[in-house]
Amino acid sequence: MKILDGKTLSEKILKQISETVQSISARPPRLDMIIVGNDFASEKYVMMKEKKAKEVGFDGAIHRLARDCAESEILQKISELNSYDLVDGFMVQLPIPGNHDSRKLIDTISVEKDVDGLTSTSLGRVFKGQEGFAPATAVGVMKLFAEYEIGIKGARVVIIGASDIIGLPLLGLMQLQGATVTIANEFTKDLSEITSQADIVVSAVGQPKLIKSKYIKLGAVVIDVGISKDPLTGKLSGDVDFEDVSNVAAYITPVPGGVGPMTVACLLENTLSAWKLKTQVS
Ligand code: GUN
Repeated sequence: MKILDGKTLSEKILKQISETVQSISARPPRLDMIIVGNDFASEKYVMMKEKKAKEVGFDGAIHRLARDCAESEILQKISELNSYDLVDGFMVQLPIPGNHDSRKLIDTISVEKDVDGLTSTSLGRVFKGQEGFAPATAVGVMKLFAEYEIGIKGARVVIIGASDIIGLPLLGLMQLQGATVTIANEFTKDLSEITSQADIVVSAVGQPKLIKSKYIKLGAVVIDVGISKDPLTGKLSGDVDFEDVSNVAAYITPVPGGVGPMTVACLLENTLSAWKLKTQVS
């Protein structure tokens, strides 16, 4: 069994970004983030993104809105950042608490600044293989496959979870490369029967240790995108029972140190691209 080391690969990507930023004489790229409320996990993600953005030399600001803010306040903030020329890209951390229509809000982000790749336009472009920003987690997973020379064409792939952040864009990216992709969801009957036929299993559910060795074919590749608190141990856990699945998988991503750091690196890479497009540097 081989570990897919997202930490090391992400550090390589961050180093390249940092070198590019250092070599430019123009203003540095700028990534802003909007966070509504103070959900523990969202705070952690935003802090991590801010830390890495600073380390590679980006400018940026975090815009905090109250948990119970009006929809108009979120729309106003998005509109402000759309118009503010010095902001190359920005994102709204999800989930947005309360009863807000996230899709409606996200779709007001200018597609040129949608470095999180979550607007309907960006997602549509992913499916058609058009230029644009793809969601960072999905790009991160594709980069891990490329780095470890894992073949996609003709592979049988099962993705558990059909989210905008990972499941759907990864379906788009993988089918473009010739994979046969199945998306499983909460209504899927006999999940292990389906996953145990797959060459690649991607789990993005947020259910600690859902995936055991009986779900996985001998020699398969297992990508763990889930992160949640294990009620048994109180610790953060992936969707995959790492120790058990290690006995059958050929490749596996650890939690932490697998997909998570790749998401941050790919978000910053998208921001660098947005900056390049804006300042016409290639
Ligand atoms: N919440 C968890 N992951 C993500 C992400 O990649 N983007 C946004 N906007 N919110 C998230």
